[in-house]
Amino acid sequence: MVSRRDLRRELRRRLRAVSEDPELEADLLLTRALGISRPELLAGLDEPVDPKRVRLAEQLADCRLEGKPLPYVLGEWEFYGYRLKVTPAVLIPRPETETLVEAALEVIPPDAQGLAVDVGTGSGAVAIALAGARPHITVAATDISPAALAVARENISRYGLDGRIELYPGDLLLPLKDRLQSERPLAVVANLPYVPTAETAKLAWEPPAALDGGPDGLAVIRRFLDQARDFLPPRVPVFLEVGYGQAGGVSAEVRRRFPDASVTVRSDLAGIPRVVGFLTGHRRQGSPAASLSPALTS
Ligand SMILES: C[S@@+](CC[C@H](N)C(=O)[O-])C[C@H]1O[C@@H](n2cnc3c(N)ncnc32)[C@H](O)[C@@H]1O
Repeated sequence: MVSRRDLRRELRRRLRAVSEDPELEADLLLTRALGISRPELLAGLDEPVDPKRVRLAEQLADCRLEGKPLPYVLGEWEFYGYRLKVTPAVLIPRPETETLVEAALEVIPPDAQGLAVDVGTGSGAVAIALAGARPHITVAATDISPAALAVARENISRYGLDGRIELYPGDLLLPLKDRLQSERPLAVVANLPYVPTAETAKLAWEPPAALDGGPDGLAVIRRFLDQARDFLPPRVPVFLEVGYGQAGGVSAEVRRRFPDASVTVRSDLAGIPRVVGFLTGHRRQGSPAASLSPALTS
C-alpha cells in the first residue's frame, strides 16, 4: 500500500504545475482526502493510505490541475479565524476583507447592542466575523443570490449564529427599507462587486454576480450609495470595500450624494487603500463635519 509520505511526494510533484506553494497545497489536499488534521498527517507520514483515499486525493489534485481555486477544491476556507464552507456560488473570502471588518468593529463598541448590516454577504464571512466579535449585536445580511444565501445559512449555523444573523434575499438595502425607517444601524458594511467587466474573465471560477461591477467597476457601488442616501437614517457609519485604485473615485461618489460627509480611507495590510468610510446625513449648519477618523480624512 502507498504511504502518506509517498502520496504526499507525488501530489507535491504534480501540483508544482499550478501552485506557488505545492508543499502546503499537497498537505491541505491530503488532510481533506484523509479526513485528518495537518498535525495528524505530519505525525503519521509512514501510515499506509487506503486505496479509496488515494483515489480521492488524486481526484482533488486533478481538479486543482484544471485550475480550480484551492478553496473550491477543499470546499472551505478560513476568514477572520472562521472556517467557512465555500462553493462556486460564493466569492472566496479574501484576507483584505478583514480590513472592512476591522473598520466596522472600530465604531461598534464591544458591549454594543443593536443592528449591523452586511450588504452582499456571500458566504456570510463579514456578518459572521462581526457577530462573533460583538456578542450582543444582531446582523441583517442581504444578497441578491439565493444560492449564496444558502451557503451563508450553513456557515451561520456552523457557528451557532442562527439567532443573531438574519438573511434577506434582494437588491442591496432594498429588503431592509422598512426596517431602516425605525432602526438606526450601528454600522453598514458592504463588499460589493467592483471588478470592471473586462477584467472578470480571469476570475472565471467565481460567480459573475459577486465580481462584475460594470464597465468601470463602480456600477453596483453607485446604486448602493443611491439607496444609502434614500433609505439610511442620518449619522450611520458606512464602510465600503473597494478595488485597487478605486478609493478616490468612490470617495467622490460618496461626496456627490453626501456633500458634507467626511470621507475616510483605510488601507489593507498590503498598503492598498481598501475601505472607504463615511457617516450618512448632513452636517448641521455651523457644526464640525462628522468624522470617523480625522487622521485618515481624505
Ligand atoms: C464581492 S462578493 C462579497 C461576498 C462577501 N461579503 C465577502 O466579502 O466575501 C459580493 C456579493 O454581493 C452580492 N451581490 C451582487 N449584487 C448584489 C445586489 N444588487 N444586491 C445584493 N447583493 C448583491 C453577490 O451575490 C456576492 O455574494
